[in-house]
Amino acid sequence: MHDLVPLSIPNISGNEWKYIKDCLDTGWVSSVGSYVDQFEKNVSQYVGTDYGIATVNGTAALHLSLLACGVQPGDEVLAPAFTFIAPVNAIRYCGASPIFIGSDPKTLCLDVNLVNEFLSRECVKQDGGIYSKQTGKKISAILPVHIFGHPVDMAPLNEIASEYGLPVIEDASESLGSEYREKKTGSLSTVACFSFNGNKIITCGGGGMVTTSQESLANHIRHLSTQANRIPFEYEHDEVGYNYRLTNIQAALGVAQLEQLDSFIEIKRNNAALYRRLLSEIPQVDLAWEEPWAKSNFWLCTLLVPPADRKPLMEYLLAQNAQVRPAWKLMHTLPMYQDCQVYGMEQTEAIFERCISIPSSVQLNAEDIEYVVGCIKTYFEQL
Ligand SMILES: Cc1ncc(COP(=O)(O)O)c(C=O)c1O
Repeated sequence: MHDLVPLSIPNISGNEWKYIKDCLDTGWVSSVGSYVDQFEKNVSQYVGTDYGIATVNGTAALHLSLLACGVQPGDEVLAPAFTFIAPVNAIRYCGASPIFIGSDPKTLCLDVNLVNEFLSRECVKQDGGIYSKQTGKKISAILPVHIFGHPVDMAPLNEIASEYGLPVIEDASESLGSEYREKKTGSLSTVACFSFNGNKIITCGGGGMVTTSQESLANHIRHLSTQANRIPFEYEHDEVGYNYRLTNIQAALGVAQLEQLDSFIEIKRNNAALYRRLLSEIPQVDLAWEEPWAKSNFWLCTLLVPPADRKPLMEYLLAQNAQVRPAWKLMHTLPMYQDCQVYGMEQTEAIFERCISIPSSVQLNAEDIEYVVGCIKTYFEQL
């Protein structure tokens, strides 16, 4: 049996030990320390924003961003149904509800035309805001997610958002280093969020970051992340805050990982190209690819297969030690969110039925990729 080919595992091969040892040697292990400052500076510089606020994870970054953008209890936020659950849960943490908009079958991301259609046909402008006709509730933000590393078509989305006066909160958790028209994701909207959990392109073990170029938002998010303590040492808290700061140890890991990010992206893009070349010999299968205006970090390479083959092929690959996984169950099918409004979901349901994410770790070599593609070929030959 071939050794396990993992889906997406950390690559710890730079200064991680050195920087973490420094934290331990100096005693700066908690949520204040030079690595936290350094990590914020390095990520925001890399992405191209003026500010970065490190958080305990990506979900916390999303929660604070939604709050700081003014999402209130009873509001609604436009979001994709085809996403990992974290951004949708973060909407709920604010007491708001998602409205699920369908996804584009080419990018697998929020379909910008459907967002436009929904706002113009299914909503009314009233009292300076925009309200859903069906629910009567105020829409207060749009939350696009760059799925599997591929950017959302942000220019038209931002145009629509500004026409309706809505802030855009970019969930860039999966897309650190990806580019939209030569600008990095995380710098394309009002505010953006990253995750550095163990399966992301770089990891802090667990961690997150908000990036923005709006000073007032950055200050508010930082304030909320430290229990909203207005005057340090006097415990003068002026609103409900959160203990959402990243620790120095995690940030040390992040600083070391970020030093290697460009090389990780190069490897992942080369691996995706090799997968694509080898998979082109299997007519039943496509690899989700990038649009001409996009440069993806190919965080997770994802196959598009005939719906009837999705489950049996996954089972076959897992049995061959190739770690694969399905896409996330669509959000509007989950019990907590099945009563939420949905719009334009037909194509999205079809996408979900076709997706299998395949091994995409930085450590993957050509032999692993040939092995995985060989297994896929064998599966179809045996049919
Ligand atoms: C799209 C997306 N958003 C948010 C998150 C949440 O990040 P975290 O696990 O760091 O809370 C993740 C990953 O876990 C994600 O993939």
